[in-house]
Amino acid sequence: MLANHRLVRRVFLFMLVVLVSWIALSIVGAFGNSKASASDPKLADGLAAWEQVYSVLTSPRCINCHTATNYPQQGDDRHRHFANVIRGPEGKGVPALNCVSCHQSENADSTGAPGGPNWHLAPLSMRWQDTNDQILSSAVVCGAVTDRSKNNGLDGPGLLKHHQAEPLVLWAWNPGKRPDGTMRALPPLTHAEFTMPAKQIGV
Ligand code: HEC
Ligand code: HEC
Repeated sequence: MLANHRLVRRVFLFMLVVLVSWIALSIVGAFGNSKASASDPKLADGLAAWEQVYSVLTSPRCINCHTATNYPQQGDDRHRHFANVIRGPEGKGVPALNCVSCHQSENADSTGAPGGPNWHLAPLSMRWQDTNDQILSSAVVCGAVTDRSKNNGLDGPGLLKHHQAEPLVLWAWNPGKRPDGTMRALPPLTHAEFTMPAKQIGV
């Protein structure tokens, strides 16, 4: 009777040890896995690809139209647009000074006015800078670009198509001449390089 009792206790103890070890192992396993995913090559590739996209979005040719203020910027130093040009209700300026009165559908290299179809400022929901003209962080821009309540309802393929074909995006790779006759600088990647990493992460 006594021997039996001991046996039951031993079996019970053994089961308890197995159970505790199993729980402990699965916690370690889960922890180990989450650590593994942080160094997952796919995730690391995705982050690197996003940083490339970010370097283009925040380059002067793009971000000069994606401001948080009531004016566009110009030049590589992103200074305020000359002639006190202001955003106006739809980003198209105001009646006396609307964008298309100077910006035609193509670059006007003789005057140095850049051009593209329906040239106007991106809406404030698509700003990538703050009101002091400081560029927003990579995480904030990523959040804004992929937030469909801010980006005109574009999903991943929609964003990619925008980057591949939108004329104002393409203009950045054919930005024309400044009024002094020199060429405007291009974004840091070629258009093909820009849309390739974008393809990997769906932007
Ligand atoms: C009075 C004419 C005029 C009006 C109005 C005007 N622009 Fe411009 N804009 C120019 C000229 C000329 C340049 C070239 C200046 C330079 O490169 O030094 C320019 C440059 C720019 C640039 C800089 C491109 C770059 O990357 O350097 C942006 C962006 C821009 N304009 C946006 C706008 C927007 C948006 C509006 C309307 C809200 C607007 N402009 C209204 C004449 C005008
Ligand atoms: C002449 C001004 C102008 C320039 C230059 C410009 N954009 Fe835009 N961008 C706009 C406008 C306007 C919209 C809003 C279009 C709409 O409402 O459909 C927009 C929208 C976008 C959007 C979608 C919304 C979002 O999430 O922000 C993306 C992405 C974008 N632009 C990327 C770029 C990139 C990349 C470049 C440079 C390679 C660029 N833009 C250069 C004016 C500009």
